[in-house]
Amino acid sequence: MKIVPERGVIMSSCLILLVMILQNKTVAQQNQNFFPKQDLMTIGSYYYPEQWPREYWSRDIKKMAEIGFEFTHFGEFAWSFIEPEEGRFDFKWLDEAVELTHQNGVKVIMCTSTPTPPAWLAQKHPEILMVNAEGRTMQHGSRQHISWSSPVYRTYVEKMVEAIGKHYGKDNRIWGWQLDNEPSHYGQYDFSPAAQQSFRRWLEAKYKSVDELNKAWGTAFWSIRYNDFSQVLIPNQKELIAQPAPAAVLDFRRFSADEANEFLSLQYKILRKHIPASQWITTNLMPEHVDVDPTHINSLDFLTYTKYLVAGYDKGIGPQGFRLGSSTSIGFANDFFRSFNGTTGVMELQPGQVNWGKFNSQPLKGAVRMWIWHAFAGGNKFVCNYRFKQPLTGGEQYHYGIISTDGVTPSTSGLEYIRVINEIKELRKSYDAAAGMPAAYKKRLTAILYNADNRWEMDNQPQTNQWFFMDHLKRYYNGLKQLGAPVDVITEDKDFSGYPVMVAPAYQLLDAKLVERWKTYVQNGGHLVLSSRTGQKDRTGKLWEMKWAEPIHELIGAKISYYDLLPDSVQGTIKMGNQGYRWNNWADMIKPLQGTAVWATYTNQYYAGTAAVVSHRFGKGTVTYIGPDTDDGALEKAVLQRVYQQAGIATENYPDGVMIDWRDGFWVGVNYSEKPFIVPVKPGAKILVGSKVVKTADVVVWKD
Ligand code: GAL
Repeated sequence: MKIVPERGVIMSSCLILLVMILQNKTVAQQNQNFFPKQDLMTIGSYYYPEQWPREYWSRDIKKMAEIGFEFTHFGEFAWSFIEPEEGRFDFKWLDEAVELTHQNGVKVIMCTSTPTPPAWLAQKHPEILMVNAEGRTMQHGSRQHISWSSPVYRTYVEKMVEAIGKHYGKDNRIWGWQLDNEPSHYGQYDFSPAAQQSFRRWLEAKYKSVDELNKAWGTAFWSIRYNDFSQVLIPNQKELIAQPAPAAVLDFRRFSADEANEFLSLQYKILRKHIPASQWITTNLMPEHVDVDPTHINSLDFLTYTKYLVAGYDKGIGPQGFRLGSSTSIGFANDFFRSFNGTTGVMELQPGQVNWGKFNSQPLKGAVRMWIWHAFAGGNKFVCNYRFKQPLTGGEQYHYGIISTDGVTPSTSGLEYIRVINEIKELRKSYDAAAGMPAAYKKRLTAILYNADNRWEMDNQPQTNQWFFMDHLKRYYNGLKQLGAPVDVITEDKDFSGYPVMVAPAYQLLDAKLVERWKTYVQNGGHLVLSSRTGQKDRTGKLWEMKWAEPIHELIGAKISYYDLLPDSVQGTIKMGNQGYRWNNWADMIKPLQGTAVWATYTNQYYAGTAAVVSHRFGKGTVTYIGPDTDDGALEKAVLQRVYQQAGIATENYPDGVMIDWRDGFWVGVNYSEKPFIVPVKPGAKILVGSKVVKTADVVVWKD
């Protein structure tokens, strides 16, 4: 089989690309109007009027304003207060709260409260409930227990969103809107009858005939084949003896992401009918979510993210790292969410100690402040703290707020918020609209190419207990940030040509069109870095009926002979120049073609002497292929450094945990490492926050 794209295909894909780029531009331009540049970044906090006695509201909101919060966030869990009985909407209480914010000069993000339908709704219509992989039906009593696929649920959602849209649509005390809350089932999937039906409809629309589906899923294997769409079930490992068809799993992941998008777009369309163009609509997503893919959400004005770094999962660096989290956590979220259309915000940021983690430590002193500055560094238009008051009752009792349990005293992290709010206010005075991105920094601009299909497909078939797609990708991300590169995490609908360097980590699924686009990019002078597992399959997840990864051979100037995986107790060794490196997770064995340079070789196991990293010139640019996936990212960083060097692009060399970004005329440095870092401030530069010596959990902001 040959994968040569036809001319017409290339022409029409170029046209589609152009339209997409233009559309993105329009949204990005419009987004600038939502957030005046001179405001830099606004800071707000969540408040739940329905969870506190009315007589507290004015005291609390006044306090919010005194602290300097510029906006608050209402209502994402308030459905049973907004519609206490079916069809009876009550906005009186919310009007009162909105008026109080207005009197105090605080703007409001209003939400649709779809994650928490009232008890009467589940009682009347139990068919709206989500069913998990074990076949258990979720119940009323917490949140996010409903099936987005349920047509009944959607009808009630439509009515509620219509009601709130009509009520607050013309209200200029509302700043913007959030749909739902972290739309997700937190790593679980919905197997309800409604989801099964919706999945079948999705498949029918995609494949048209069951024969096509059989072909795409390879159902001849193990006699899985279907006579009719009605026989297809959501692949559920809990109900299967051996592996489901991988293509079925991939389609189900795509469907789930589309379902979330459709659910949000349904709400978006209703709200947009009622609200003015000046009000924006977003939702808040966790970057690490796998069941809802941010890149599939295409109907909102922009996306925001939520971030909790200290909850026992992120080790960070050194013995105190668990109190700080990793620099790649907020860093990656910034560059991922901002890159969709140029605008993002942090809708929730950890306010200190939380209640739901593996263990819930106190963050290191200064960490909360550093996180906020890190969000600023990455271009966020706002940061909203989760939450203003520590709750006295309910499922998040042990969760910090800005204000502690007595209702009036700021918590330790509350004090850190107060400090940053004042620092940002001060910084606004130094804003210079004319400041342009420094040339050396701009020259390093790098894209990471991301497609959730790769993550879904490889994490479903990891081949080793040590393969994790996001860890692989973040090793490259971290390497790039240590070299001081500004990074955009982009998807294939974006134009590649503005990026001097592009890294496409583990890009397993591709087609002729993408390979052609990469070739053009490189021929025109781009520097492309590809890594382990790239190019092994077509977009349906089928292995090529060709040599292993053959579609990329010409591009990378090499063949991939085979791959190897090791037990976690065995270390593979590699040499690049005089430097030794270790790998343990995955290793592609590379056979260079003529004219391709070998940068690194494996030095143990029976394939010692085989190429591990190769690079060659292709047109005006270069292509580099990295076969192994390491644990520490040292090889990845060293190769990236060599790619820039060869391309004549100067880089920095920051230690792991230090990130320095430029935004709106300001350099911002944060330090998640164990040691103080001295920032390379040019003579004559003006330090506006902190000092040249940035201690652990500290920040520096300066202007050249
Ligand atoms: C978030 C969630 C919030 C709140 C918070 C607690 O993931 O969106 O509603 O539960 O966690 O840390």
